[in-house]
Amino acid sequence: MKKVEHVILAITGATGMVYVSPFLTMLKQNNVRVHAVISEAGRKVLKLELGKDISDLPTVERWFDIDDFTAPVASGSSLYDAMIVLPCTVGTLGAIAAGYSGNLIHRAADVTLKERRPLIMAVRETPLNRTHLQNMLALTDAGAVIFPPMPSFYHKPETLDDMANHFAGRLCDHLGVQVSDMKRWGS
Ligand SMILES: Cc1cc2nc3c(=O)[nH]c(=O)nc-3n(C[C@H](O)[C@H](O)[C@H](O)COP(=O)(O)O)c2cc1C
Repeated sequence: MKKVEHVILAITGATGMVYVSPFLTMLKQNNVRVHAVISEAGRKVLKLELGKDISDLPTVERWFDIDDFTAPVASGSSLYDAMIVLPCTVGTLGAIAAGYSGNLIHRAADVTLKERRPLIMAVRETPLNRTHLQNMLALTDAGAVIFPPMPSFYHKPETLDDMANHFAGRLCDHLGVQVSDMKRWGS
């Protein structure tokens, strides 16, 4: 697998903002450059769940406005190693599955798929209806990885941070980004 050096992080308005900071911290520890976009709903849920604005998150190289279609992430000629949507709403899932580039997140995901680069989508909704399932299948067929933020319990988390760190670590594993201090089954 190619070493991951530069990624796009998209944050949408699903519950699960607790995963974002540990994930960004792990990327930073590995010197991965991050270009980030957040939807309007994402900003609201970040505030509602954690009382935070994007300025309170671990720093990234650049933030782009959700409707800035001149941003580098909107073009396949800009080189990124992967895109991660964390957390991902079913609305954004549906837009990407339909190829509807209604905002910069949808467009960047569409570009990521057309360039055959990894697109990892931490889709969060429950329960799931037929449309959600069909959209997830369509995107899997198109090359994306559906990576729902489902916490694990086998590592015996004692705090919310433990749970969030473990899921963020699993995301990093999938990307090929090293996480040294993660609790692993059997180790
Ligand atoms: C507190 C809160 C939690 C939400 N959680 C989810 C969720 O888990 N999954 C989801 O698909 N939408 C969720 N929504 C609804 C989305 O934010 C809403 O559909 C929004 O239009 C999505 O826009 P976006 O995909 O551009 O971020 C939530 C909204 C709020 C206010």
